[in-house]
Amino acid sequence: MSSSYELVSIPSNHDDRGSIAFYNIKDILDFKIERVYWLYNLTQPRGEHAHKNLKQFMFCPNGKIEIDVDDGKNKDSITLDSPNLGLIIKKPVWRRIKGIDYNSTLIVMASEEYDENDYIRSYEEFLQWKLNS
Ligand code: TYD
Repeated sequence: MSSSYELVSIPSNHDDRGSIAFYNIKDILDFKIERVYWLYNLTQPRGEHAHKNLKQFMFCPNGKIEIDVDDGKNKDSITLDSPNLGLIIKKPVWRRIKGIDYNSTLIVMASEEYDENDYIRSYEEFLQWKLNS
């Protein structure tokens, strides 16, 4: 796995009534969360872009989500199929998000507020930007 991202386990507690998954932000993340958004009703892949500065922590509390990540050198495909798995994106990667089950939800905790200037929406531009950064 590249140093641009990390898969983490989210602790949980289970009993006859059901399960609770939880984490203290400081135990998992080295950045503050400024924004939360979630993807749902996914019918086609999306999120095909990179961010220059944004860090993100994402998890799939229900369903199954596939996230392709590409740091410009290595490509990987990560499947989030458990409420107890989280993906931290620490450095810029080109990514693509696909809902495997229609009812899948991807919750994303982001380090910055929405800023279109932080996006790179062309893969070629991303590769060039990586070379120069
Ligand atoms: P975007 O991040 O561009 O996703 P995708 O690459 O899958 O299309 O989000 C789609 C649109 O949603 C974007 O053009 C603007 C809006 N948006 C916000 O206004 N705030 C947000 O925090 C996010 C994530 C998206």
